[in-house]
Amino acid sequence: MTSIANWVYLLCAVLFILGLKNLGSAKTARRGNLLAMLAMLLAVVVTLLDQQILSFTFIFTGLIIGSAIGAVVAKKIQMTQMPEMVALFNGLGGAASALVASAEFFRGNGDLQISIVATICLSVLIGTVTLSGSLIAFAKLKGIMKGAPITYRGQHVINGLIVAMVLVFAIMLVLDPSNWKMLIGILALAAVLGITSVIPIGGADMPVVISLLNSYSGLAAAATGFVISNNILIISGALVGASGLILTNIMCVAMNRSLGNVLFAAVGSDGGSASGSTEQKQVTRYTAEDAVMMLDSAQSVIIIPGYGLAVAQAQHILQEMTEILMERNIQVRYAIHPVAGRMPGHMNVLLAEASVSYDLLYEMDAINDDFKNTDVALVIGANDIINPAARHKKESALYGMPILNVDKARTVMIVKRSLSVGFAGEDNELFYDDKTMMLFADAKKMVTEIVHALKA
Ligand code: TAP
Repeated sequence: MTSIANWVYLLCAVLFILGLKNLGSAKTARRGNLLAMLAMLLAVVVTLLDQQILSFTFIFTGLIIGSAIGAVVAKKIQMTQMPEMVALFNGLGGAASALVASAEFFRGNGDLQISIVATICLSVLIGTVTLSGSLIAFAKLKGIMKGAPITYRGQHVINGLIVAMVLVFAIMLVLDPSNWKMLIGILALAAVLGITSVIPIGGADMPVVISLLNSYSGLAAAATGFVISNNILIISGALVGASGLILTNIMCVAMNRSLGNVLFAAVGSDGGSASGSTEQKQVTRYTAEDAVMMLDSAQSVIIIPGYGLAVAQAQHILQEMTEILMERNIQVRYAIHPVAGRMPGHMNVLLAEASVSYDLLYEMDAINDDFKNTDVALVIGANDIINPAARHKKESALYGMPILNVDKARTVMIVKRSLSVGFAGEDNELFYDDKTMMLFADAKKMVTEIVHALKA
């Protein structure tokens, strides 16, 4: 049976890799998910049949309870809450790895190989850091905790000391595997380390942290795979670890920040709740009718979706507006910034939900040169990703981040509710530009009004 199981595991590994490849594009992402789900199902079924770990009554009870909780949560969750949910998933993944490794330790009753004890320490350390770090990330995103970085003197030294103590405990455990108190010590220290490493990171950087913790949860699973000698756990854990790291890097590059800067520089304001220094400046309030006059005479429009589109759930009405404009022979395209929204691919998923054709979606590099020849740049609930401060304001948290060249379009329309700042807490000079029309309203309400005015 074990050799059959290994062949099935090999098939699962191929399916996981194909799944990941398909997840790389919005067009094939659904298929990618299905392939990965099939692989996971196969892996779970084969492992249960092969290993006879527990009684099936026990397994099915867990399966029913877990599936029920998962189904309810997945049904209830809003698109804007996805990063929080991913944070919880990562945390639970880390916890599961740490628990399995600990169970294996206690089952061994002090009679374990040195390499296995060392791997158990690694799994418990990474898994527990993932759990407590993810819970902090969840709390920051949910608003249970303040998004602003929490810093104190000697923060890095304290974290360094915790790591050193973990190392000492691990060495003592390897030398004497019957000394179970060392494992409990590692567990407790790792839990503290997860908290102390994530609290100094600002709310705006949480998506990067979540992706990194996702990678950690994969590494913890791979380590646990070595502990229990399960090939598919090693392979799938390594795949999660590697893809999480790649994603983390993509986000850092898109924000022009290094991972070190994200993790240690305590950059960021309080999740965009601060207000900008807008007292002196004037903006003119425009209406949906004004916008329609402009749109009607335009030949080309680029729509820039941002986090506010997701908050307002305006994607369906926006698609209706796009169809009306295209029927009038106006060229309409969407410009997608790599970190628009709050998680990688956020805008693609949102627009796909409203059946926006993939052919209309352009990545930043593919469309940035076209803004200067565009009549209207219509920004819906975006702020940081169009903020020109990123180009010239050296003291800004956004400085160096590649932005969409919205300010180069002939007319700029910005739909948002107020002059308040975006996630990075930076005022946006584009709001006060002469060619900018500010359309203050909830995105869904404003786009609905535009659609009504277009039809009138
Ligand atoms: P933001 O800079 O956060 O701006 C979104 C704007 O939407 C806000 O200024 C808000 O202004 C407006 N808004 C909120 N609710 C609205 C509603 N119901 N109707 C209309 N407007 C609404 O978003 P962005 O431009 O998409 O930038 C993304 C930010 O997240 C960047 O700072 C990026 O670095 C950060 N980030 C993203 C990622 C990924 S992977 N996506 C990862 C790390 C960090 P009002 O309050 O005035 O309405």
